[in-house]
Amino acid sequence: MDINDYLKNYKNVNIHKYPEIAEYHRYQIYEQFIGCGGLFLATKMVREMNPKKGDIVLDLGCGLGTSSIFLAKHFDVTVVAVDFWNSPQQLVKRITQEGYLNRIVPMQLDITREVPFDENCFDAIFCMNSLFMFGGEVPFLQKLLKTLKPGGVFCVGSECFNKEPNYSDKSEVPKVYNFDYNWDVWDECFSKYHSPAWWQVLLTQTNQLDIKYCKENDDGLTMWEDIALNYYDYFSNGAIEMGAIIPLENIIDIIEYAKKHSIHVTTFVLSAIRK
Ligand SMILES: C[S@@+](CC[C@H](N)C(=O)[O-])C[C@H]1O[C@@H](n2cnc3c(N)ncnc32)[C@H](O)[C@@H]1O
Repeated sequence: MDINDYLKNYKNVNIHKYPEIAEYHRYQIYEQFIGCGGLFLATKMVREMNPKKGDIVLDLGCGLGTSSIFLAKHFDVTVVAVDFWNSPQQLVKRITQEGYLNRIVPMQLDITREVPFDENCFDAIFCMNSLFMFGGEVPFLQKLLKTLKPGGVFCVGSECFNKEPNYSDKSEVPKVYNFDYNWDVWDECFSKYHSPAWWQVLLTQTNQLDIKYCKENDDGLTMWEDIALNYYDYFSNGAIEMGAIIPLENIIDIIEYAKKHSIHVTTFVLSAIRK
């Protein structure tokens, strides 16, 4: 089968289940996002995060800042937009053009090296498709979570596995998650995905959070199909050229594998309150 034969069988995410973003054209759903879900995933996250006007939100691993703009635009919050790969100059240019310069503060740093914020300063921390890249250790999470006010919300939305994979060594990892590419896709990405249950246990171990919500999204796998269907239209932001997004052929292999196996990729949302 060629790519188009596979794509014919894939579903789009049902936009009618997302009335909050009805004003957006379909091409805007993934515009300047890096990863799965785009505004669909961001919407599921804010449903659990409940941002309030005037809140100060840390958008951690904000990428190109689309989620930061989404939060500032729809909830009238102030966003500290932190990212490691992407320069603040890029985001400053964008938020100046779009009129959010007074609402979004971009910063470029490696959050595992420094957490340059006071304790109890954020009303919420929003981590979209990013926590898996840097947040797998309890001591780091404890340091990060101290920056949340008591009662503040820690909200994660991410690509993940539906159940915890249990490969005893790398040779057992299915080829769909361990293929040749210009970075090590298993070590740097899929091995860090984990399952919603794994993230719940890890975050509980910080002793700083009451987990209020932690679920695989009902359309989690469909979000992957939607990305495949819209791959070239939506990733026009340099993410493909940068190599941050894996090739379409590999996304299709991953979806086909998912249809035949009980452990597979999906997306999830977790929301927790700082004690
Ligand atoms: C897959 S991208 C997702 C970006 C964005 N949240 C989105 O949904 O489009 C993951 C982001 O995490 C950021 N990141 C990875 N490690 C980081 C670290 N140690 N400190 C801060 N950001 C980091 C990267 O720079 C990257 O932009």
